[in-house]
Order: sequence, then C-alpha cells, then structure tokens
Amino acid sequence: MRSHYCGDLLQVPTGETVTLAGWVHRRRDLGGLIFLQIRDKSGIVQVVVEPDQAKLFAEAETLRSEFVITITGTLRARPDDMINKEMATGTIEVLGSSLDILNKSAPPAILIDGHQDISEELRLKYRYLDLRRPEMQQRLLFRNQVAKVLRNFLEAESFADIETPILTKATPEGARDYLVPSRTNKGSFFALPQSPQLFKQLLMMSGFDRYYQIVRCFRDEDLRADRQPEFTQLDIETSFMDEESIMSMMETMIQHLFKTLLDVELGEFPRMPYAEAMQRYGSDKPDLRVAIELVDVADLVKGVDFKVFAGPANDAEGRVAAICVPGGAELSRKQIDQYAEYAGRYGAKGLAWIKIKDVTKGLEGVQSPIAKFLNGEIITQIIERTAATDGDILLFGADSRKVVTDALGALRLKVAEDRGLVEDCWKPLWVVDFPMFEQEGGQMHALHHPFTAPKEDSAEQLKSSPTETLSRAYDMVLNGCEVGGGSVRIHNQDIQSAVFDILGIEKKEAEEKFGFLLEALKYGCPPHGGIAFGMDRLVMLMVGADSIRDVIAFPKTTTASCPLTSAPSLVSEEQLEELAIKSTAKKLDV
Ligand code: AMO
Ligand code: AMP
Repeated sequence: MRSHYCGDLLQVPTGETVTLAGWVHRRRDLGGLIFLQIRDKSGIVQVVVEPDQAKLFAEAETLRSEFVITITGTLRARPDDMINKEMATGTIEVLGSSLDILNKSAPPAILIDGHQDISEELRLKYRYLDLRRPEMQQRLLFRNQVAKVLRNFLEAESFADIETPILTKATPEGARDYLVPSRTNKGSFFALPQSPQLFKQLLMMSGFDRYYQIVRCFRDEDLRADRQPEFTQLDIETSFMDEESIMSMMETMIQHLFKTLLDVELGEFPRMPYAEAMQRYGSDKPDLRVAIELVDVADLVKGVDFKVFAGPANDAEGRVAAICVPGGAELSRKQIDQYAEYAGRYGAKGLAWIKIKDVTKGLEGVQSPIAKFLNGEIITQIIERTAATDGDILLFGADSRKVVTDALGALRLKVAEDRGLVEDCWKPLWVVDFPMFEQEGGQMHALHHPFTAPKEDSAEQLKSSPTETLSRAYDMVLNGCEVGGGSVRIHNQDIQSAVFDILGIEKKEAEEKFGFLLEALKYGCPPHGGIAFGMDRLVMLMVGADSIRDVIAFPKTTTASCPLTSAPSLVSEEQLEELAIKSTAKKLDV
C-alpha cells in the first residue's frame, strides 16, 4: 500500500509522487487549507490538502485523530518561512492528491501526540495506544537493535543460541518462585525459572562450550523502577575460559554495543574490589559519575565526649564516616532535616553535620550542632581528611557498619542528584572479589548464587573460613546500575557439596533440589563460567528512560499486575478442581 515510510522522505527527491500509510496524528484546518500530520513507525510528516482538490478536501475534513489512511501526493520542499525545526521532517511536506480511509478510530483514550500528563496506570491499560507514541516506538525499535548487535557479536564469537525450559524446577537466585500447578501430577508444581542458571551449566557439561540466549526470567520479588517480575536476560555461559577472559570478552561486547548504537567510546572498565566499593561508595554498584565519597573518621573521634560518635568508633562492628557535599553549606535546616529523614529510611538515627565557613579557623570556622563535642584539632583533621573547603557541608553517619554504609551510600546519590552533582557521562566498571557468603542472623547466604566458585579451591579451607573466602564472581556496573553479573562456577562435586553444607542445605534437601546437578558433576564436567545481562536495564540506560517499564512492550505494574489484560485473575472452580487446588482467598463469582 505504501511507497515510502514518513521518516524516510528526507532521502526522496522533491517532485516525486509518494503514498504514505499510517495514522492521522493531527489535523488542523487553517486559512482554507487542511494540514495533516501522518504518522508511522518511522516518524511523522506533514501533508497539505488544498481546497481546489474538492473531493480530497471533503474527505480530509472527516478525518479525526488516529484514523488509519493511505494518502498519495507530491513531495515538496517547504518555503523557508514554513520550516519546522521541531520536526525531523520539518523541511518538507507532501501536497495531497488522493486519500483512502482504511479505518476510523474512536477518540483515543490517551493522546498520542504527547502533550498530556497521563498516569502510568492509564498508559498500561491502553498500552497499544501508548506504544503508538513516537518515543515508545523509538525505544522498542532501539531495543531490537540492541538485541541484534549483541546477537551478531556473540554469533561471530561462535556462541550458539540454545533454548532452555520455562516449566522447570526452582533455581535459587534469591527471589520467590512463580509456581505453576501440574494437572497430570496433582499436588506437584513447576517453578518458572529465575534464570536458566542450572540448564546453562548442564549445557556446558554436554560440551556446547559457548551458549547464549535472550531469555525471560521470572522472580516474585518487591518491584522497583529497575525490577520486573518477568524480565529479559542476555544469558551467557562458556567452558574453558577463566574470569579474566570472560570479563575481557564481555567488556569488548558492551564497548562494541555502545560504539555501534550510540557512537560512545566507553574505554577500559576499571575493576574495583567489593570491599573498596562498600568503603568508598557505600554500594556494591557504585555510581562513579558522582565524585562524593564516604570518608571514614572513626579513628579521629574515638575519644570525643559524644556517645553517638564514640560508641560506634570504639566498636569493631561500628562505622563513623562522612560525606562532603560541595557548596552544601547553603543547605537550610529544613533541607538537612529532610536528608536526615532520607538517611533514616536506611536505619540512620540522625545526621550530624558540620558547615565549613573558613577552613583556616578550626573550631571558629565551622557551624555545627556537634561542634561543642569536638575540639579544633579534631575538626581540622576531619576537614583535612575529607578535603572539605569553604562553603561545603559534611554529613555524618555513626552506627553499625551496615547502617552507615547503606545510609551514606544512598544519601551521596540523593544529594548529588538534587544538587546537580551527577556528571553527564558513562561510567562503567567491574566489581570483583565478592565474599562467597554473607551472614544474616546466624544464617549464611550466597552473595551471588550457590554454584559460584570460591577463590579457595580446597573444600577443607572453604569450610574452615567461609566468611573470609572470596568468590570468582564479577558484576558489571554502569552509572550505578548493575547491568550484569556472573561467575566462574564450581565444577567439582566436593566443593559444591561443601558450599551446600555451609549454606545449611542438608544432604537430603541438596539431593532433592539439585541432585541432578551433583550427579552431572560426576561425569567429566569442564571448568566453566558465564554471565547474564539485564537486557531491560541495559536498554533503559542507553535510551535514557527512568524505568525498565518504558523499554518493555507490556510490563507489569509495581504490584505485579497487568492493567491491560487484568492478569492475574481468578479462575473457575472447575479449573482449580482439575488441578486439585483449593483457594482460601476470594473466589470467582459465577
Ligand atoms: P543475576 O541475578 O545477577 O544473575 O541477574 C543478572 C542480571 O539480570 C538483571 N536482573 C533484573 N532485571 C530486571 N528485573 C529483575 N527483577 C532483575 N533481576 C535481575 C540484572 C542482573 O545483573 N544466573 C545468574 C547469572 C550468572 O551467574 O551467569 C543471574 O541470574 O541486570
Ligand atoms: P543528639 O545529641 O541526639 O541531639 O544528636 C546531635 C546531632 O547528632 C544531631 O544533628 C543528630 O542528627 C546527630 N545524630 C544523632 N544520631 C546520629 C547517628 N547515629 N549518626 C549520625 N548523626 C547522628
């Protein structure tokens, strides 16, 4: 039906006859002329209808927003005074000659031209209309480009795309499982995969060497802007490659992606040990666009007569640290209180502060509610260590290591955002040297997942000092977002059993849950490792969207539901009976 896409008309010589197919974006009647904006997935172009074309004119008058039409006319340059710099095709227009209305449209529930503040609930309910918006079209088509570039890269490196099951057994990635009841095995459930982790390891055992898959993963967890209950990973696994070669190849792949699609040179990714990231940035995914760092001052305040500081400073599990906010001395009491409240969300019980007026004057040169507890010498040392200068503010956290690290880590980002201190650039890095386990209330958890290899390759040593053991895991972080994570895996049954032991997974439970993996490890398993990238997060960052919902065609709300289809929904008693399921919640009203 069409001869050209609207967005391609700039490449067509003027004078040519063109036929466009798409939607009426807008219709304006002006001075006896009708101006139509015609939209398709490539963009928008203006079509002018003149009154001397009586039949066409009469038809054009009946057009409304979102009618589907084909329209034919002659391409022409716009006169200089009619050029629209806001429009990609603003230098040209089509002089209409004939029109075919293919379908009418009811007045759209949300306006497609973007000049409307629409709630997300409404956008998701009418997602098919929301997706007509040029911004959403560009984002989803860009997402397709990302997938294509990544696929091409991996195919060129001899990776093979192999599918893994969706109806499967629980994979431990730390979230709750989505369960699917089995009709043929009543009382039994499939779990939807939190990732293809176990299957990709089995594929390595089968000798496939280099696997990848762009694959849906399912996790029933608390949702945020960068989390969805179903999301897409670029999942990768390799055999006979160590962490150095895996990281290096993946770094090259992401550099190639950014160069190809954004013409951005990411440069070499620095490596940062987990401990350093927590110490300096209060996060395992540090945003290096923000220069502010956490500075430890416990040793300086051990002897002060201020319990809030002296307590944690003398406690091996405590931490006292400060962040220096450039120009922050202008903050009002109210603003500081708001930041204290923000830090409170991470457990901080207060937010002590020192405003620096004159660094040369010690105690006299600062303003602070805690100055009275400190002496000039301590103040000078704190100023020196934090490199604070006149006009800055120091914000302090004093509490358990975890509370201070989390609170100041989050506050550093919040203050930087509020005060325009986030550099406009790309800051990738690898976070490495993660501990194997973290202890929470006596229970050990795997920091990555239980199949991650320890740096220690003796089961005895691992068991004797589990919390000190580092893992062979690595996370790729970009502008404060964890875009990918992976590790070299355990390929030895003794070590895998030792890890299950440390995690408190009993032999019987290990057998029940992962018996097939332990069994497979017996039969000549090659050394292997891999990584998975969050495709949604990667695309979100590349297009500059605020949420991964904006780069997913049909996402869920933050309560894990779909306003478009009303999923999840109640089902009939017969269906439940067939599955041998009794619901204690509300039932379908039929
Ligand atoms: P991990 O759990 O770190 O590792 O996940 C890999 C990447 O997937 C993305 N991601 C998410 N994106 C959107 N919504 C979510 N709910 C969500 N959860 C995770 C993140 C993350 O970096 N099997 C291992 C990988 C491996 O070891 O190879 C795994 O799944 O960007
Ligand atoms: P107080 O003596 O409790 O009134 O606290 C004096 C100052 O220390 C106030 O500015 C509090 O916000 C701050 N403060 C109290 N507890 C903490 C804490 N755990 N960490 C940092 N600052 C705190």
